[in-house]
Amino acid sequence: MTSGAFPFEANPNPVETAERAARLVDPGFGRVFTDHMVTIRYSDAKGWYDAKVGPRAPLTLDPATAVLHYAQEIFEGLKAYRLADGTMALFRPEQNARRFQRSAKRLAMPELPEEMFLQACKQLVQVDKDWFPPVDGGSIYLRPFMIASEVFLGVKPSAEYLFMVIASSAGNYFKSGAPAISIWVSEQYTRAARGGTGAAKCGGNYAASLVAQSEAIRQGCDQVVFLDAAEHRWVEELGGMNLFFLFDDGSLITPPADGTILEGITRDSVLTLARAQGLNVREERYAVDQWRADAESGRLVEVFACGTAAVVTPVGTVKSTQGDFTIGAGGAGQITQQIRTKLVDIQRGATPDTHGWVQRID
Ligand code: PLP
Ligand code: COI
Repeated sequence: MTSGAFPFEANPNPVETAERAARLVDPGFGRVFTDHMVTIRYSDAKGWYDAKVGPRAPLTLDPATAVLHYAQEIFEGLKAYRLADGTMALFRPEQNARRFQRSAKRLAMPELPEEMFLQACKQLVQVDKDWFPPVDGGSIYLRPFMIASEVFLGVKPSAEYLFMVIASSAGNYFKSGAPAISIWVSEQYTRAARGGTGAAKCGGNYAASLVAQSEAIRQGCDQVVFLDAAEHRWVEELGGMNLFFLFDDGSLITPPADGTILEGITRDSVLTLARAQGLNVREERYAVDQWRADAESGRLVEVFACGTAAVVTPVGTVKSTQGDFTIGAGGAGQITQQIRTKLVDIQRGATPDTHGWVQRID
């Protein structure tokens, strides 16, 4: 099938205006959902078919549906913003479309054409545009995903798939509102090994991270940081964010995206913005022992995490079985804040977009 607007069926029972306003006062992350969703089906025989935007509703799945057993599932996360001039826009959505294709390939799933991915995201935002929260930093978080929908228990790639996009009104990802987050170094669990699925955005990666994330929470931390699977030495990324390290000589490093970490679109944007700002930016391995030594010597001055949900978030404290250490003064670093402001200003149209990153919707 070709692209163009998908058939639309309005939700006959949308959330009432007053109730929607109440839900949008403090939406947090991932709890408030809009009235509609996109669905597109795929089968080996028909290809992509039956694309539509319809009322958001529960799915009915046969208990033998493949995804429920072998986790053949991938997803994306991107935000729609209201710009300073009132129009709506997506930030680098073509990058999400392409990463979704790479994830599909790794999970032996069909690759959704980029234009269908973009049409699905844009049309859903247009239909549900009343769901932008009127709060500082508010956005509509889009969650495109695809599941193996064939009813079959054999272990093989499914012959049928369901692609969907749901939308969620979003405020801040971290509840506490603290100036910086704390992270727990996972020594027992790893997230990804060479040849594995670390670079794919598949649900299985997140399932495998949860026990480590729970440990982080038990230790009083916001997030877990994973080390490499072979040596348990090299810093990789957080459960849902990439990491950057800034040194007192103006160098900024981030672990290389060479197969075991997610190639974050925020990460890529930060690399570009930091280079333009004159920082000496390098994609380079960084050992956890060095991290502690550099924090203690004062050579390491700022650390931040970044991702669609978290934007750019300062890391203040690092905890592990080897003891705790603090980055700088433990709060939000100056360069971190500058990079965050630059990124957010581009995303919201407050500063000119010289990179062609912002795609307007209307
Ligand atoms: N790393 C992981 C494991 C993630 O889940 C995410 C979130 O999407 C990121 C990094 C950041 O990626 P992006 O900036 O594309 O949102
Ligand atoms: C995102 O930032 O979009 C993520 O996917 C992180 C997490 C919510 C899974």
